Amino acid sequence: MTNPTTAAGNNPAGESSNDASEEMFVAPRQHLLDLDDLSVGEINDLLDSAEGMLEITGRDIRKTPALRGKTIITLFFENSTRTRVSFEQAGKILGADVINVTASTSSVSKGESLLNTVKTLQAMKIDALVVRHPHSGAPYFISNHTDASVVNAGDGMHAHPTQSLLDLFTVRNNIGDMAGKKIAIVGDVLYSRVARSDILAFQKMGAEVTISCPNTLIPDEWTLGSTLGDETGFGGLKLARNVEEAVDSADVVMALRIQQERQDAGHLPSLREYSDRWGINAKRMALANDGALLMHPGPMNEGVEISSEVAHGAQSVVEEQVRNAVAVRMAVLYTLCAPGKSSRIGGSESNSGNEA
Ligand code: CP
Repeated sequence: MTNPTTAAGNNPAGESSNDASEEMFVAPRQHLLDLDDLSVGEINDLLDSAEGMLEITGRDIRKTPALRGKTIITLFFENSTRTRVSFEQAGKILGADVINVTASTSSVSKGESLLNTVKTLQAMKIDALVVRHPHSGAPYFISNHTDASVVNAGDGMHAHPTQSLLDLFTVRNNIGDMAGKKIAIVGDVLYSRVARSDILAFQKMGAEVTISCPNTLIPDEWTLGSTLGDETGFGGLKLARNVEEAVDSADVVMALRIQQERQDAGHLPSLREYSDRWGINAKRMALANDGALLMHPGPMNEGVEISSEVAHGAQSVVEEQVRNAVAVRMAVLYTLCAPGKSSRIGGSESNSGNEA
């Protein structure tokens, strides 16, 4: 199978290594469940592949036969706009048949279990299941009960790996090498799967990550003003005392959605106080480096965690994140599903030696 990006003269997914011996022993990756077990080499290969995919998304006729004959199901147990639509678009551009299943319109609403839902879909012969679920770990469970490739499209508070890949892609395309760059992440760290995945992703790429949020939105054992040790799994993560310290000299400022559904749990005094003390606005962006990027994974609560002025201002790459989502998810689907897919992707042996 020809990688669709080669037609455009771009480097195809998984062919960035010149080391033939590396390619001989590596089993293809079947699932994308988290970023924990992705090496820096694998991440770079996916981002390189996404470059070619981005070129395809910009063509007048956005269609390739790369995944023709493959069936991809998006199985969403939670609401979504960006992730579900971009996966659907990604699969369709690659020529796959994409079927969308949501909990509210499926037999899940009649009481069918997750296991029986997966077995039912599996019986129809499918190639990939893109899963969003409110319970952390659900995609892992599913991956144990299907032959299809499983992609985690966000599970509970756990992980959102393709969001992080598209965030990395957006930063790489704007500022290049992330090693040593300062990334400030401001918002709900305790409950955010994006925060967890993005901290891991940026740290893997060698960036220095600082977070800022109310004391109530970090794990109990973490202390503002400290730097985490390796035993936490986030070694080197800085916990700023306040948002000004976090965004000071930052190369990237990322605001996270304040999950208003948490209000009743007493984590926030009020949305107005949150906005006053942690909201990203022009005054706070002025503390960051010149040309610093402003990011938000969406959906945004404008006027709460981010002001409308900066959300749609010159430094904002929020729309670019959404645009890049299609290319990055094309790269993921192609890597997992393409016939004769590259053996370069997958397994610890595929490390390119620059693991952060
Ligand atoms: N960023 C993100 O996951 O957005 P959706 O919930 O709209 O998919």
